Amino acid sequence: MTKTIKAGVVGWPIAHSRSPLIHESWLKSFGINGTYEKIAIEPGTFEARIRELVDQDFAGVNVTIPHKEAALALADEKDAAALAIGAANTLVFKEGKVLASNTDAFGFTEHLKSKGKDWAGKRALVIGAGGAARAVLFGLRELGLSHVDLANRTVDKARVLATHFATDTFTITPLDLVDMASFLGKADLVVNTTSLGMVSQPPLEISLEGLKPGALVYDLVYVPLETEMLKQAKALGHDTLDGLGMLLHQARPGFEAWFGAVPEVTEDLRLRIIDDLKEH
Ligand code: ATR
Repeated sequence: MTKTIKAGVVGWPIAHSRSPLIHESWLKSFGINGTYEKIAIEPGTFEARIRELVDQDFAGVNVTIPHKEAALALADEKDAAALAIGAANTLVFKEGKVLASNTDAFGFTEHLKSKGKDWAGKRALVIGAGGAARAVLFGLRELGLSHVDLANRTVDKARVLATHFATDTFTITPLDLVDMASFLGKADLVVNTTSLGMVSQPPLEISLEGLKPGALVYDLVYVPLETEMLKQAKALGHDTLDGLGMLLHQARPGFEAWFGAVPEVTEDLRLRIIDDLKEH
C-alpha cells in the first residue's frame, strides 16, 4: 500500500473552514491516498506547531487567519506573490524546509479569467485596503490593468497600498470610501474586498447607477453568495462574480504541490460547497 499523504488547514478558529470539503472532494475524484484535516493552532504557538507537522511528515498546509503573516515569516523560501502581499496561505514542506506561497491572487485572477475578457490596459475600482485587497492588487497588476482607484474608509491604508503596489504602468489613486461614486463611470471592473455585505456585517453602501456600461462587478464575499451589491449590479444589467470562485481556485496550487495531481474547479464542486454553506 502507498503511504498516506497528509495535508491540512491551520488557523484559529478553524471549525468553519471549507477547505477540507474542497480537498477531500478532489482526493476522492483522483482516488489519491491522502488526508486533509482541520488543525487548530493557537496564536503564539504557530512556529512550534508547524515544525511538529514537518516532523510528522505532512506534505504541507493551507494557512488562514490569524497566521498568514507568521507563515511567511517562518518560511525558508517565499514566492513573489507571498512577498508582495506580505502573507502566505500555502506552505509546502520539502526535505525539512518550508516553502511559502500566496495563492489568493491566483484564485482571484483565475476566477476573473473565467469570463474570458482581456484585462490589459483596463481600469478597476477596488474597495478596501486590508489583506484581501493586497492579493487583489497583486492579481490586477499581473493581469496588466493600467489603473486602480482604491477606496477605503481609512484613506491612509489605501495610500500605503498604493505606494506598495503601483508601478510606472500600474497606477493607483487612493481615495475615501465616501467619494467612490465619482469613479464608477471610468471603471471596467469593481471589486469589493471588504467584509461589508457579509452575513452579520453592515451592508456596503454603494449605488452602481453611474457604473460604466459593460463593467463587471466582483464581490469577494461568499456568505451570502449574492450580496446586495451583486443583486444591484445584476438588476442594472452588469455581469458579476461572487467570492466562492476565488476560494475554490486558490486551493488548486496547494493540492497539486502536496498530492501531485492537477485539480479542476467544476460546477459540481461549486454546488457541493454551496450546499454546505446553506446547511451551516
Ligand atoms: P481582510 O484581510 O479580509 O482584507 P482586513 O485586513 O481586516 O480584512 O480589512 C478589512 C477591510 O474592510 C478594510 O479595508 C476595512 O476598512 P479600514 O481599513 O478603514 O478598517 C474594511 N471595513 C471593515 N469594516 C468596515 C466598515 N464598517 N466600514 C467601512 N470599511 C470597513
